[in-house]
Amino acid sequence: MSIIINDLVEAYIEGLYRSRNNFLKNLREGAEREGVPIITKDTENFLSVLLSIHRPERILEIGTAVGYSAIFSASVISKTKIISVEMDEHMYERALINIEASQMENRISVLKGDAREIISDLNESFDMVFIDAAKGHYKSFFEGSLKLLKPKGIIVSDNVLYKGMTASNEFLLKRKRTIVKRMRAYLEYLYHHTEFETAILSIGDGVAVSVRKVEE
Ligand SMILES: C[S@@+](CC[C@H](N)C(=O)[O-])C[C@H]1O[C@@H](n2cnc3c(N)ncnc32)[C@H](O)[C@@H]1O
Repeated sequence: MSIIINDLVEAYIEGLYRSRNNFLKNLREGAEREGVPIITKDTENFLSVLLSIHRPERILEIGTAVGYSAIFSASVISKTKIISVEMDEHMYERALINIEASQMENRISVLKGDAREIISDLNESFDMVFIDAAKGHYKSFFEGSLKLLKPKGIIVSDNVLYKGMTASNEFLLKRKRTIVKRMRAYLEYLYHHTEFETAILSIGDGVAVSVRKVEE
């Protein structure tokens, strides 16, 4: 598919988008105005379908930013409890304020620190892990999450196509070379994982969905 058609299709799908509620609408608009990276509208739409099918009771999110995707996910499934991890002090504080304002503080907890360390100390189990943090560390996040994932759990990795850079050197920015190399290695790793089936979807900035292989 040419990039132009892809852009047209994306714009069309984006035109269909409606915010779930006014709180999320304002939160998205504020984040977009400030350039805070949050899930794209089509990724949000995909997540809402995935959450509705999978109905996770517990989600581990890696990368909170201002709390948008956590608040969104909690609003889709009313029984879901979320632990989200954020290492940036300022984002962490803002996420807490937004989560309180959304009245979701009983269902969403934010842990401050580097997820690579925090998840190794967690002892809880999760139905879903949403990886949306430093792209160079996705493999560590994935491997660290495995011991916390329930047998039928799923791992969703966002931004895996990284503005097309993962797929083609044509789009590659020199300063992103190392991150892109790591992301490519991560996707190779996921695709050839002996325990997981993975699909990469060209939704938003690229979403990989991984589930455990069915045992025959
Ligand atoms: C793309 S944003 C998350 C967006 C959020 N999931 C949403 O859609 O609303 C990525 C966040 O991950 C955080 N981050 C990056 N590396 C991290 C790490 N190793 N541990 C915890 N947080 C990290 C960044 O500070 C940033 O706020």
